[in-house]
Amino acid sequence: MKLKIEELEWSVWLLIIIPLCGITFYLWGIATALLLSLLLVPIILVVKNELIKRQFSWKPSYSVGVAIFDDEHKKLFALILQMHRALKHMPSKEEARAVLIELKKYTESHFSQEEAMMEKHGYPDIEKHKMEHKEMISKVQEFQKDFESNDVAVSKETLRYLQNWLTHHILVTDKKYSDFFQSKGER
Ligand code: FEO
Repeated sequence: MKLKIEELEWSVWLLIIIPLCGITFYLWGIATALLLSLLLVPIILVVKNELIKRQFSWKPSYSVGVAIFDDEHKKLFALILQMHRALKHMPSKEEARAVLIELKKYTESHFSQEEAMMEKHGYPDIEKHKMEHKEMISKVQEFQKDFESNDVAVSKETLRYLQNWLTHHILVTDKKYSDFFQSKGER
């Protein structure tokens, strides 16, 4: 499995920071070691946050060529990022639940809009596409179950699955309708 810097726990960072400060102390003294430790923590925080933001963000290469769907995909990524942060920083269960409900509602609404446009224009691959949407909805429901059972570790794993699923679905399945919708005048 690929090691991701942004996913390293603070206990792992401490195993790196402490020996590093120890070496600095040995070579350059206490003042430099203290300065290094004070600088490293905020730097790690900023880098971790930036990497997580990038990982959970929509990118121009994800564009499906139809503005309304690109906007909805952006919103879906934003909601998954919000959920990720909610799980990480442990706000009240109610706050996290509100994000989850919005994620579920927004996902369903987005899928309905895509399917409606497919039906309107007679998109040939509609049934296969709908099956993938169903799979995502059931995964969101599973995520809701994990969340309500208070199993944060499982929730984080399911959330990662949702993010990967969404990226793959947009890049592979949604991209397939791009030329078709554009040929029907949808932009
Ligand atoms: Fe954009 Fe098919 O979901």
